[in-house]
Amino acid sequence: MATAAFIGLGVMGYHMAGHLRTRGGHEVRVYNRTAAKADKWVAEFGGTSAKTPREAAEGAEFVFACVGNDDDLRSVTTGPDGAFHGTAPGAIFVDNTTSSAEVARELSEAAEAKGFGFLDAPVSGGEAGAQNGMLTVMVGGNSDTFERARPVIECYSKMVGLMGDVGSGQLTKMVNQICIAGLVQGLAEAIHFGKAAGLDIEKVIDVISKGAAGSWQMENRYKTMNEGHYEHGFAVDWMRKDLAIVLGEARNNGASLPVTALVDQFYRDVQKMGGSRWDTSSLLARLER
Ligand SMILES: NC(=O)c1ccc[n+]([C@@H]2O[C@H](COP(=O)([O-])OP(=O)(O)OC[C@H]3O[C@@H](n4cnc5c(N)ncnc54)[C@H](OP(=O)(O)O)[C@@H]3O)[C@@H](O)[C@H]2O)c1
Repeated sequence: MATAAFIGLGVMGYHMAGHLRTRGGHEVRVYNRTAAKADKWVAEFGGTSAKTPREAAEGAEFVFACVGNDDDLRSVTTGPDGAFHGTAPGAIFVDNTTSSAEVARELSEAAEAKGFGFLDAPVSGGEAGAQNGMLTVMVGGNSDTFERARPVIECYSKMVGLMGDVGSGQLTKMVNQICIAGLVQGLAEAIHFGKAAGLDIEKVIDVISKGAAGSWQMENRYKTMNEGHYEHGFAVDWMRKDLAIVLGEARNNGASLPVTALVDQFYRDVQKMGGSRWDTSSLLARLER
């Protein structure tokens, strides 16, 4: 049993922190900017809550964060009352936020200067993966630090991989998002076409999902897409944040990502339709407008 802190109890973090208690039996102190969510979490899982990220981190062997973007991450780590001011030497900070590789390297340096470890550890698997504790975790950092943190990370995951030095977890997550962007647009076009052709989409997917066209997106999203239901899941705003990071990194490394850049613009259309918090499968709503 370890002592852990968890910062950011959003769609993902709420459940991930919960698994640290229910599966790992760890002692957990949480922090959330909107305190009501922390109160709800403590009522559900036990543990304690802190008033600041710094207070949450004090005395913890492992400090986790899952917040929004690079600036949010800086604010809860190196900002005033940030967790880095309270994290003890020898502890390990595990960042589950999807952020840039650049901020991962910056925070890793800051952690090293204070004598504690840092892992960038973005996740994939959506809200359902967080709820079921079945996330895929892509980690960047030092292998000794990784091996120490692995059993605790495994509380909320089905697959944990060390991808290389710090920043490699975020770079792997970028590869993941490139795969998803083109794939979801393809799935949206397929359902759009199937409907226009007068086919029964349930029947179509039942058959083709068993063949070469099958995917996680198809299995988990076709029903809600077919019903035009998008008030759940991975928000379009977050996907645009991720694609901005991907396209920025591609400008640095020279990779050519024409489809990813195009799908990013399609998500911009969805935002203009009022779909900022809709699930990423809402690319179909854009085709059906
Ligand atoms: N949702 C998914 O399916 C999914 C899948 C994979 C990866 N991710 C990534 O995981 C991260 C979290 O996603 P999510 O869906 O859980 O987001 P979310 O529901 O919007 O939650 C974000 C969390 O971060 C906190 N936060 C944001 N900015 C903050 C700041 N400046 N200071 C303090 N706290 C701050 C929020 O606090 P409040 O409660 O006060 O707003 C909330 O607890 C993102 O990087 C996202 O890209 C999400």
